[in-house]
Amino acid sequence: MKMGLMLLKLIIVCLLWVNLGLSHRPLGGEQPLSNINILSTSLALHPHASINASPVLLGLKGEDTEWVDVKLWSPNPSSDDWIGVFSPAKFKYDLLLIWPYSLYRLACGSSSSCYSEADVKDQQPYICSAPIKVLIIMEAVHAQVNLHVCKHHQFWLHQDWKATLRFQLINQRADFSFALFSGGLSNPTLVAVSHSISFANPKAPLYPRLALGKSRDEITVTWTSGYSIDEAVPLVEWGFPDSIPKQAPAGTLTFTRNTLCGAPARTVGWRDPGFIHTSFLKDLWPNRPYMYRLGHLLSNGSYVWSKKYTFKAPPYPGQDSLQRVIVFGDMGKAERDGSNEYSNYQPGSLNTTDQLIKDINDIDIVFHIGDITYANGYLSQWDQFTSQVEPIASAVPYMIASGNHERDWPNSGSFYDGVDSGGECGVLAQTMFYVPIENRDKFWYKADYGMFRFCIADTEHDWREGTEQYKFIEHCLSTVDRQKQPWLIFAAHRVLGYSSDKWYGLEGSFEEPMGREGLQKLWQRYKVDMAFYGHVHNYERSCPIYQNQCVTSEKSYYSGTVNGTIHVVAGGGGSHLSEFGQLNTKWSLHKDFDHGFVKLTAFNHSSLLFEYKKSRDGNVYDSFTISRDYRDVLACIPDGCEPTTSAS
Ligand SMILES: [Fe+2]
Repeated sequence: MKMGLMLLKLIIVCLLWVNLGLSHRPLGGEQPLSNINILSTSLALHPHASINASPVLLGLKGEDTEWVDVKLWSPNPSSDDWIGVFSPAKFKYDLLLIWPYSLYRLACGSSSSCYSEADVKDQQPYICSAPIKVLIIMEAVHAQVNLHVCKHHQFWLHQDWKATLRFQLINQRADFSFALFSGGLSNPTLVAVSHSISFANPKAPLYPRLALGKSRDEITVTWTSGYSIDEAVPLVEWGFPDSIPKQAPAGTLTFTRNTLCGAPARTVGWRDPGFIHTSFLKDLWPNRPYMYRLGHLLSNGSYVWSKKYTFKAPPYPGQDSLQRVIVFGDMGKAERDGSNEYSNYQPGSLNTTDQLIKDINDIDIVFHIGDITYANGYLSQWDQFTSQVEPIASAVPYMIASGNHERDWPNSGSFYDGVDSGGECGVLAQTMFYVPIENRDKFWYKADYGMFRFCIADTEHDWREGTEQYKFIEHCLSTVDRQKQPWLIFAAHRVLGYSSDKWYGLEGSFEEPMGREGLQKLWQRYKVDMAFYGHVHNYERSCPIYQNQCVTSEKSYYSGTVNGTIHVVAGGGGSHLSEFGQLNTKWSLHKDFDHGFVKLTAFNHSSLLFEYKKSRDGNVYDSFTISRDYRDVLACIPDGCEPTTSAS
């Protein structure tokens, strides 16, 4: 009988916890860290509550990612308990903590108030920085991760709850601590804090990302470290495998809180970005494999090295060889330990990442066309993103475009006045990743890769006729030699072409307002094969289209002269999905409400395969081929073809 009552009590508690846990879940699309009202934290350290993490020292064999066991004891567990992971470990609370036998003072600085955008005195105590990760304990139970919690539920019945949770940490240049809070995210009460743990070398050079350089025989390597240029000389050691390597110097960038535009990037989301280095590897031999590693020469003459990586040099522009390109937008990041409510914020992110890693030997270059991390002003998330994509970005050029979540901020020069960048106003995207442009805020550029030319636009700056960007787009499209580089691709973050997205449909425009108005002339005149977009989180492919009309009824095999551009929305990289509208248009040939990405395979100058793959299984769910010669395009050179006045 007693056992039966105990069991019933356990079930009720479990149901209550699951139910309350779910109520914390944002409706979708909200940066999980933004839900924490960290500045209002109150203090109720309990002498019998504790939180301990092990191992204490991470990365002893040079690892940059480690799993950590976190043991909790709580005499007064509550349904909305959560754990925050802080880095640096001594997050700021300037308050004397009365402990039964000792007096602690934890502080990360001498200032007695947090950095604030407004001249308003914050409440005490002060925790000035958001955690780098948050785990609502019942979310973990609900998502069936960290199941050690459930195993220990019987302790709850004795009002003395124990649990072991597992967290994955990456080397982010500082130590870590774990803190147990009650009161939910909106009214946090600090109950217990762990000792600090750290990586053996927190400053280690990490997370290389390759990009095409400004010249055809150049690859750039960008990475992050804790070494300033006064402390060590950054460099890349590289060369053909099994040959004597050479060294290339690197430039170093960083930025301060004041470089950013607003909160949370300048306030609770701020975190020291370390140093971002870029090295330019020049005079590459086309298609040859190279080895490289990142290094820092210390003042005592010793080196700190990263692990070794390999890449393949880009093909000579126009070169006839197998070339495989991945295109997607809006991937974001997620945590493999279930923290940050990964199952709700960017639910497809890890699947997309994992499919690309699986296929990495059959991929030559990646275009992530905007909405990169969805950090939204929480800077720690950029390290975590570069760690997540490292197996991809360290092996092939990882080219990015700028999206609203990178750039938009009021009065900062962005075309849209929204706050989607969380105060980053482009600084993070422009510093953490290299793109071959002079002024990185003007985020439009061309990229030649073998038989492809990509003209990447920046929808967060004005693209309309008469603007500097419009002139660039025309120059990019008009200057390519189609006999050498037949595959001409336009890409941008927001949908400047065609999309059946619910909201675009309601507007009746099926595009970003003013999107294709001026640009369709250029797509037509320069016979752009395909145009890609993100922003809308689903997949859609149009017919070859000009001025809202399909120029052919063919759906899967295009040959001969084509007078329209195929528009593709590939925004299902990872973020929560966007609904399609009710209207079915003639131009929309394939829609998919799921996460996925596009792979283009150019076999030669006249044969191209397009594939749309789902992130969940990597299988192809839509495809077509283009087989054509480009005499019709060549005849237009050098002034471009005259636009067709109406679809045929
Ligand atoms: Fe977007």
